[in-house]
Amino acid sequence: MQVIKYMFQPHGDERGQLIALEEVKDIPFIIKRVYYMYDTVSGVVRGKHAHKSLQQILICIHGTCKVRLDNGKEKKVIMLEKPYEGLYIAHYMWREMYDFSEDAVLMVLASDYYHEDDYIRDYEEFLRLVSSGGHGDEGTYDPT
Ligand code: TYD
Repeated sequence: MQVIKYMFQPHGDERGQLIALEEVKDIPFIIKRVYYMYDTVSGVVRGKHAHKSLQQILICIHGTCKVRLDNGKEKKVIMLEKPYEGLYIAHYMWREMYDFSEDAVLMVLASDYYHEDDYIRDYEEFLRLVSSGGHGDEGTYDPT
């Protein structure tokens, strides 16, 4: 399973750091929604779903957290600990976010508005969908 982590370019100077993200140029889709999680309670696991078509970039802009990605065949754990790194998550990829530090702020850039009908919240259903292969590329994405 290919994990795509973007390293954004910080514009640093003696005053500190600044990161600018432009849709399509720095982010491989049109950004229609931004949301973020903070004050996450210790021990909580968030996410626990996949999407039928949504693409996302996760950026832990403060603190740290872990993301478990699962394409139905393989699982990988990715640590997010720098505000300049972004984890790309394609559609048909089960994700779980956990081990949030107390100060963690996890920001998500999403390719579409919030549509409950785009969610796959049942893991068995997710496995059925990816194993039947009817959806296309099983969560892989190659930005090149
Ligand atoms: P939820 O889907 O449980 O978050 P996660 O899967 O990342 O742990 O979302 C929590 C609540 O926020 C739920 O009531 C739906 C709402 N919500 C929105 O209204 N808009 C959004 O863009 C998102 C992601 C969630």
